[in-house]
Amino acid sequence: MATFYTEPSRTFNEYLLLPNLTTKECNPANVDLSTPITKFKKGEKPAISLNIPFSSAVMQAVSDHHMAVALARCGGISFIFGSQSVESQATMVRKVKAYKAGFVVSKSNLTPDQTLKDILALKEQTGHSTCAVTEDGTAKGKLLGIVTGRDYRISRDSLDKKVSDIMTPFSSLIYAKSGTTLSEANDLIWEHKLNCLPIVDENQNLEFLVFRKDYDSRKNNPLSLLDANKSYIVGAGINTKDYKERVPALVEAGVDILVIDSSDGFSEWQKETVEYVKANFNVPIGAGNVVDKEGFRYLVDAGADFIKVGIGGGSICITREQKGIGRGQASAVIEVAQARDEYFKETGIYIPICSDGGIVHDYHVTLALAMGADFVMLGRYFARFDESPTKKVKIGNNFVKEYWGEGSNRARNWQRYDTGGKQSLVFEEGVDSYVPYAGSLRENLDRTLNKVKSTMCNCGSLSIPELQQKARITVISATSLVEGGAHDVILKESSMAAE
Ligand code: IMP
Repeated sequence: MATFYTEPSRTFNEYLLLPNLTTKECNPANVDLSTPITKFKKGEKPAISLNIPFSSAVMQAVSDHHMAVALARCGGISFIFGSQSVESQATMVRKVKAYKAGFVVSKSNLTPDQTLKDILALKEQTGHSTCAVTEDGTAKGKLLGIVTGRDYRISRDSLDKKVSDIMTPFSSLIYAKSGTTLSEANDLIWEHKLNCLPIVDENQNLEFLVFRKDYDSRKNNPLSLLDANKSYIVGAGINTKDYKERVPALVEAGVDILVIDSSDGFSEWQKETVEYVKANFNVPIGAGNVVDKEGFRYLVDAGADFIKVGIGGGSICITREQKGIGRGQASAVIEVAQARDEYFKETGIYIPICSDGGIVHDYHVTLALAMGADFVMLGRYFARFDESPTKKVKIGNNFVKEYWGEGSNRARNWQRYDTGGKQSLVFEEGVDSYVPYAGSLRENLDRTLNKVKSTMCNCGSLSIPELQQKARITVISATSLVEGGAHDVILKESSMAAE
């Protein structure tokens, strides 16, 4: 006979946190949101910890190299989507690893034969007022000079005046050689009162520009998630089909951590994939998704470094409708977190878990953490920002961004849903949609983090492990859900809907 679970499976919306005593030291500035994402033995440190418990979803519409840099700069991690060729995914990883915060490849370049007219056109096109002048007009060509807005006067100079007659020539430039560190570059910038310092190789070829304002921004990102070489940490999604080809290429490109991206991870295919990676590479790998202790234990025994939790809760997901499979996200996280704690007691090994999908309100993040998740993965949330790879479109008076599921016809990521055998999947498990455009990642994430920290203080907790120990969580009734929003008042138009 089938097994029946009599308790309904619940979503985050059905819970609230009860406040604990907030002591005077409990203020948001003192909250530490760092969290492990790879397994570790009691008393030891995890190989990788995040500085904020956020990861961006393994999706075409969410996680490319731009998102990865923007999120790592804030202390979280992106898993670059795997539903693309091995080569293009490895290239994205390579771009993230090559991105040196503070060192930028010159985006506005000219040849000495061009004219003031070209300078003005380039400025209009890129918005940059500093242009490099190189022999061949490329970003890596031999540097001959620099042009800034201070080198010409539009009212006096002829539009035909040559760039070579306008630029500050290389012989008069302050520059630095390859290998200069960011702090050395910054010393030169200050010493010589520069706005921009070119870095050139031994043949005078331009490598990077370092801008004063970028150094300041680096100082403003104290939570940046960096490896030992000061490159951003980045993850990548893989599948259980072409991993023997994909993983070596990703590792070669410098990926820091992998995750098997699948709607249902409780499978022998995942076990084989994890075992292959563990046997051949020194790179951590997460597996999933699972929704119960059996799935958790199976993937942990296979060697997974973290476990991803959630089936059917994603905003673009129609798995439950199509196949009748899944579990309310809160119930799934609660059960898997319990299994993780039992495993820790039994073995002294801590396996981080990630709550993936179904975060609608910011407070859902705090609930997921309180229920035992070590970090969350979000798709819809990040898809709304400038940094996501999708198009911004105007519909009526509102801007929106495109957001589609990996199981939609648009993404055609059938490997994610493949349960083996010869026949591939022939029906969709995701939709193609729009989400409201919300602006920059930094601004939105800061607001969300402030809310998370503030709630943690209400719960008397200064860290995620403390929250997990102390949280008191209550199920709420349908009517108290109504009471939770503004009610029985007539809203003025300027009132913002709570996110
Ligand atoms: P969201 O944050 O609620 O938008 O959920 C994002 C999560 O949904 C992803 O991290 C995936 O686990 C899951 N997902 C992505 N694409 C699909 C799909 O097409 N069908 C079902 N689930 C999906």
